[in-house]
Amino acid sequence: MVLIVVTGRGGAGKTTTTANLSTFLAMREYRVLAVDGDLYLPNLGFHFGFDTVKYTLHSLLKNPDIDPEWAIYRHPQTGVHVMPGSTQLQDVLGISPRRLVDILDRVKYKFGVIFVDSPTGIPFDTLPTFEVAGYQLIVVEIERSPIYSFETMVKNEIEKLKALGERYNLNIGVILNKVRESGDVVDKIIEAVEEDLEVPVLGWIPFDNSVPESINAGIPVLKYAPRSDASLAFQEAGEVLEGWIFG
Ligand SMILES: Nc1ncnc2c1ncn2[C@@H]1O[C@H](COP(=O)(O)OP(=O)(O)OP(=O)(O)O)[C@@H](O)[C@H]1O
Ligand SMILES: [Mg+2]
Repeated sequence: MVLIVVTGRGGAGKTTTTANLSTFLAMREYRVLAVDGDLYLPNLGFHFGFDTVKYTLHSLLKNPDIDPEWAIYRHPQTGVHVMPGSTQLQDVLGISPRRLVDILDRVKYKFGVIFVDSPTGIPFDTLPTFEVAGYQLIVVEIERSPIYSFETMVKNEIEKLKALGERYNLNIGVILNKVRESGDVVDKIIEAVEEDLEVPVLGWIPFDNSVPESINAGIPVLKYAPRSDASLAFQEAGEVLEGWIFG
């Protein structure tokens, strides 16, 4: 089962969501692989403390002779298997994202769930993987919209990515992240998204300083600070996600 995590805007929390929902499912005994599909600015490795590893997704994209297993690292604290990207510019140049699908095809039978973290906006790096995916998670940071046009902005952002997912017949769900002042109106936003756009909102995650702290520690917040507000929300979202995928 392949899930692709996307956002309309940078910094909304794709990588944080990928790391924490992977952690949730791994802690529920699923075999989970989290792949850093953000080829130009990969940072999933940082969330798991795998930012200086020898073999990366980029190594595989460059050299088809390398066994994909070499670029998969098991995170000891969470049990998530991670395929990090390389942050070196020379590794990013001259690779073809098309080969990402072949790599997924080679490893997918070994994992119950594969998350593919994506670049912002139309995710050109991971578009080929939409063909082998079943689910698309759209992460939205609602606070970034001016308050007077909140609903319109959020809907616009979701609508575009929804259209993309529908082209590939993906099941589509939404996660709202970094909720601050809009905490009071979040129910109204969820209702608007679910009724007008007809996509389920799987959960909403409050803005919480434990999140950046956990990234510095290289342990997703769900494991790093399990009682934090963000963790409780990721836990709830994880339960909804699990029910959504596995029934
Ligand atoms: N719920 C949250 N509360 C507080 N800070 C958060 C939360 N979620 C994410 N952040 C912070 O926001 C920043 C961006 O998050 P993240 O890297 O997950 O977003 P992204 O969508 O993957 O960004 P990019 O477009 O750069 O790939 C990080 O520094 C992270 O610590
Ligand atoms: Mg990211």
